[in-house]
Amino acid sequence: MKYSLAELGQATNARIEYIDAATEFISGIQTDSRKVQPGDLFVAIKGENFDGHDFIEEAFERGAVAAMVSTPIEDLSLLVEDTLIGLGKLAKYHRHNLNAQVIAITGSSGKTSTKDLLAATLQQFGSTIAPAGSFNNEIGLPNTILSADVSTKFLVLEMGMRGIGHIDYLCEISAPDVAAVLNVGSAHIELLGSREAIASAKSEILQRLKPSGTQILFADDPLVSKMNSKTNSKKITFGQSDSADVRISNLVLDPTAKPSFDLTFNGDTKNISLDLVGEHQTFNAAAVAAMCIGLGLDFEKVCDAISNARPQSKWRMEVSELSNGVTLVNDAYNANPESMRAGLKALKAMAGDRRTWAVLGQMRELGADSDSAHDEIGRLCVRLDVNRLLAVGKGAKLIQMGASLEGSWDNESLYVDTIEEAIKLLKSELKSGDIVYLKASRAIGLESVAQALTDWASGKNTHS
Ligand SMILES: Nc1ncnc2c1ncn2[C@@H]1O[C@H](COP(=O)(O)OP(=O)(O)O)[C@@H](O)[C@H]1O
Ligand SMILES: [Mg+2]
Repeated sequence: MKYSLAELGQATNARIEYIDAATEFISGIQTDSRKVQPGDLFVAIKGENFDGHDFIEEAFERGAVAAMVSTPIEDLSLLVEDTLIGLGKLAKYHRHNLNAQVIAITGSSGKTSTKDLLAATLQQFGSTIAPAGSFNNEIGLPNTILSADVSTKFLVLEMGMRGIGHIDYLCEISAPDVAAVLNVGSAHIELLGSREAIASAKSEILQRLKPSGTQILFADDPLVSKMNSKTNSKKITFGQSDSADVRISNLVLDPTAKPSFDLTFNGDTKNISLDLVGEHQTFNAAAVAAMCIGLGLDFEKVCDAISNARPQSKWRMEVSELSNGVTLVNDAYNANPESMRAGLKALKAMAGDRRTWAVLGQMRELGADSDSAHDEIGRLCVRLDVNRLLAVGKGAKLIQMGASLEGSWDNESLYVDTIEEAIKLLKSELKSGDIVYLKASRAIGLESVAQALTDWASGKNTHS
């Protein structure tokens, strides 16, 4: 990256303070003052907890050349009205100077899993940049773009949304070449009101595609498959439906719940075995294949690359064997009804005849559907014959009640108020050979159960 401050000032409509220094070049752009390197432009962003303007001095001490600010400072700076918008404009400007093809992914479930699998696949074809974790908002996405350089061939972006217009804004910045809608579920239904409204917000990802761009759509859900960009860009659909362009068939799960299946495209069929756990990864893999085809890559080579990919994101179906013989499946990154169902099915597929535990917390932001969604998960546990259900925290009470109503016996489904109680109960009841699945919405913090059980199994002393 070799931009002068004058150039960036123009790209962001900023007023440059100390204009005589505007011929200075910057070597990078940074929003986290702790990561500033000598030569960087520091962008001061107001977040929920911190205001970057409080760290400007620190950024200069670390060698920043200039800061982008919304309140004037004494030092060399780009003064804008809103630094978050400024950051977006910097990313947009940078994106148009890259040689990369940009791929954007949205959906209610599986964005991060799919992004990781796509990145691990594309790396086998050329230099690939993708965000670590779930950096999918108006701060994380520009930062990801800014981490790419002229050698980047593929730039993979995850797009999340909490309302109308959010994804459109991310697309204005990133101008995707390929855009995918994985599914429309009920995540954020509380904020948007209906699945149709969620679908409409997600379809924004298609609207800025160039006519030469490609839309990647889930064939099995009419709300997704009937989406269309205004520019009528090419469409590639994926799924199990007969109509899918990239079609899944002969799906089987091995004893560790890793899927194998055939993918068919244009009359060619290839078998894929994933090194990932859970049936739902099949759909993510088919989406990856469709995106790669959209990028112009060869279908057969893509299928081999998907089988070879080894992605990993924290707390998503993360399987660990504890030293006391208990298997832990930590899926506590986040939860909604679709992903909880997928996870519970994977638990049963992995378990064989071992004793299964589902430790479940609340699924948040489900609005009016919340009660019935929790009740249904409880009933599903009984139907899948999960041996022990432990619902944790008030928001999960209806999971336990649903299980009782579906006919679970007294000890098969339990409820506790707190995570501490859950840990205590698990420590006293778990036996070698048991398999424990953990899932809840992010804010519940259920991953601390995984940590406590891991420490306990390895003999580390903890308080609870
Ligand atoms: N295609 C899918 N359909 C349903 N659930 C899925 C799918 N892909 C992943 N999941 C589940 O959804 C949860 C969230 O996955 P993640 O990839 O982090 O999604 P996102 O980034 O959209 O929140 C995980 O627990 C995972 O098991
Ligand atoms: Mg995510």
